[in-house]
Amino acid sequence: MTVSSAPGKVYLFGEHAVVYGEPAIPCAIERRATVAVDERDDDHIRVEARDLSLDGFTVEYAGDTDGRPDVDAPTELVDAAMGYVDAAVEQARDAADAPAAGFDIRVESEIPLGAGLGSSAAVVVAGIDAATRELGAALAPEAVADRAYRAEYAVQDGQASRADTFCSAMGGAVRVEGDDCGRIATPNLPFVVGFDGSAGDTGELVAGVRSLREEYGFAADTVGNIGDIVRHGESLLADADPGAEPTPDLLAELGRLMDFDHGLLEALGVSSRTLDSMVWAAREAGAHGAKLTGAGGGGCIVALDRTPETRTALRYTAECRDAFRAELDREGVRTED
Ligand code: PMV
Repeated sequence: MTVSSAPGKVYLFGEHAVVYGEPAIPCAIERRATVAVDERDDDHIRVEARDLSLDGFTVEYAGDTDGRPDVDAPTELVDAAMGYVDAAVEQARDAADAPAAGFDIRVESEIPLGAGLGSSAAVVVAGIDAATRELGAALAPEAVADRAYRAEYAVQDGQASRADTFCSAMGGAVRVEGDDCGRIATPNLPFVVGFDGSAGDTGELVAGVRSLREEYGFAADTVGNIGDIVRHGESLLADADPGAEPTPDLLAELGRLMDFDHGLLEALGVSSRTLDSMVWAAREAGAHGAKLTGAGGGGCIVALDRTPETRTALRYTAECRDAFRAELDREGVRTED
């Protein structure tokens, strides 16, 4: 059995604008998806998913993943997650030149589905890494990132940037601008995540921003302004001491930029009442800044704070289902076997 894990992420800055070629800075967090893979003697795929839903489920199907029957999955979200597992299998088969390879796959995840924390990217990255190693065709993390991007691109009908998959494969904080991706040095950023228990529809939210841009020229300026926030944030990080504790001034400035970014995302129509409530609860509890993370519509917010007050305040916020600390994870995809 070959086992790999990969981290989820939060966006410090830049979601949505990254779709239009602006830079973004996602940061890997210490919440992982773990995928265990065993090669089979036939070409069947058997997937057992734990923690993707409360009940978990198992499904087995033969041969081509295109022919997968409707999964007896507890929710639409879990069904969608299965599409990512299929896409990871296809990438691993292609990388190892083993088109008929079959697998028993077990997926476990600490990352809520579709909530802006990069759950699908983490499953795809860990899945490709484990399956290629199981077939004796181990890939470098950069190659895993590239294949994971292709998998997400296929599943999401071309509505995907490289941000989630590159960040999950490489770990740490990364900068993504179009096809140009790289790690950046940062101090230890103290994140707190609030989760409203729901999920946003990434495709619909991306399409909504697209039509707003087409209808109103100034919405394109809003997207460009998010890019300016990212560039400003990046210069602050470049001047900071990598690996050290961030200074109070840096936290204050980054937090201010996060607040600014959230305001612009709200203007683009991708926030929600529950996300806004959690953002305000975090700010009022003394967080340096707070914003939605990922596609929005529902799901998670990220706040910058190292004290426990933000987490506690979020837990007492009616709209918040769960709140947790999420340290920056400097490790990307890794072997667990
Ligand atoms: O919600 P997530 O984690 O899928 O993030 C989506 C981020 C977008 O910028 C809205 C889309 C993308 O592919 O970058």
